[in-house]
Formats: sequence, C-alpha cells, structure tokens
Amino acid sequence: MQIVSSIAAMQRHAKKWQRAGTRIGFVPTMGYLHAGHLSLVKRARQSVGKTGKVVVSIYVNPTQFAPTEDLAQYPRDLKRDLKLCREAGADAVFTPGDAEMYPNKAENGFSAYVVEEKLSQSMEGAARPVHFRGVTTVVAKLFNIVLPDVAVFGQKDFQQAAVIKRMVADLNFPVKIIVAPTLREPDGLAMSSRNKYLEGDLRLQATVLWHAIQKAQAVVKKSARPVPAEKLKAELKEFIQHKPAARADYVEFFDPDNLSPVAKVTRGSQLALAVFVGKTRLIDNAQL
Ligand code: PAF
Repeated sequence: MQIVSSIAAMQRHAKKWQRAGTRIGFVPTMGYLHAGHLSLVKRARQSVGKTGKVVVSIYVNPTQFAPTEDLAQYPRDLKRDLKLCREAGADAVFTPGDAEMYPNKAENGFSAYVVEEKLSQSMEGAARPVHFRGVTTVVAKLFNIVLPDVAVFGQKDFQQAAVIKRMVADLNFPVKIIVAPTLREPDGLAMSSRNKYLEGDLRLQATVLWHAIQKAQAVVKKSARPVPAEKLKAELKEFIQHKPAARADYVEFFDPDNLSPVAKVTRGSQLALAVFVGKTRLIDNAQL
C-alpha cells in the first residue's frame, strides 16, 4: 500500500493508472476509521475489481468546520488508520497536510470555493453555515487530485451525498458516485468517528437517535393515512428530550430525491435528525 502525502505525487500515480486503463475507486474520509468506512473501501474494491486501484484519503478538512466546532478535538490516529486501510485492501492512502491542501490560507490566499446553492441550504447547511462549502470544495479538490472513476460515500451523511451528487452532475465531474448503507453498532447507534466523544452514560443515551427513527417507522407503518409532518416532528422531539442529556437540533421529513420538506409523512419519506447528546452533535437518517 502506498502512502502519499503530496498532491503532485498523488496526481502522478493517478495519471499513470488512468493511462494504463486502470479504474480508480476512491473513498474520501477524515480518518479515525471504523467499520463503516471499511465497508466503503470494500464497496470501492467491488466496483473497480481486482485490477483496479482503491485510494482512501485521510484529511480532516478545516474549511468544513466553523470556528466554534470540533476541528481541534476531532479524533485522529493515523497509524491505526493506515493499518486498517492495509487490512481492507486499499492500494494507496492519500494523507495531505493543511499546508499542502490550503497553502496560502494563513495569508488569506485561498479564494476559490465550490458552492452548491440548493440542496445545501436546509438541515446540516442551516445548522452549520460554512459546512457544505467546505465539503464541496475539498471533495472537488480531492477529485482533481485522485482522478477517480467511482467515489463511495456513506448514507449516514445523506445530505452530503445528495449535495456531492449534485455538484458532480452540474460541474460534469467524470466520476460515478456510490452511496453505501450506514453501518450500526449492535444497539442501533450509527457508526461515526464522533462516537468516541460519548463517555459513560452518554453512549447509552445516544441510542435515542435510532429509537426515534424506529418510532417514526412504526407510526408510518401503523397509520392508514399520511401523518402530518409537524405533529410527528413534535412527538419525536419530545421523545428525544426525555433523555436528560439529549437535545434535538432538528428533525426533518423530506423527499429523498430533492430534499424538499414534506407536509405529510408517508412510506418512502426520508427522516433526518441531528441531536446533541451532551456536547456531541450526532446525525442519522432513514427512509421510512
Ligand atoms: O464525510 C466526510 O468524512 C467528509 O465530509 C469528507 C467527505 C471526507 C470531506 O472532508
């Protein structure tokens, strides 16, 4: 497995593979890898086959964090990540530093951003104003560096995947986007690097996101008629608030194809929620 930290070297590898007709599968991550990430690596391998190359990037991208967010605390363990990537069968790991990705940032020299203006406005975009601009910008940069034929993203970040698909379609990136299912802990908590922040009882309380999803599933299944979204939102928020350390940031019902909010919740509606458990902000989603 190659470990590459310079952009020029990564582009050289990618161009060489391209010229040889080798397909490139790509899994962008912020590291601190868990089984969910490794399932994306497997999915990338499946897509490009044995003769293809699978590249994982590990980069905690500062431009997608607001100054008040957890950039400094974001968990990092490169040594362990590299071992996991090797075991998962990655061919290369791209691990650039900030000076490589945003060379003139300190002097305010970085000024070209990629912005999606529609799907990025609600939910995570409303709660975290600079977030998606940072994500689309870094993913566009990574696509230009890794030159992938396919890139795999996790369904856990449902809105992120939708925004990236839109960016790829609108800006004609020659890459196929695959969205792979969320992996869960045995008690239903969606796997996330941020789960590391959950100590003691907070870890138990964090299952409230999954339980809220199951509650919504049950209501929709039981109801013969569409359920008013506002009513179900209020019920779920109250359910969440019953956990002493939990506070709902948002609960939204929307059409999974265009992220438009729905007034009536039916089978097929998408539910997404963000919940603070103590100081940790967790997200999850499901199609009902
Ligand atoms: O989902 C993530 O881990 C990040 O948002 C991504 C796509 C790697 C961009 O930094």
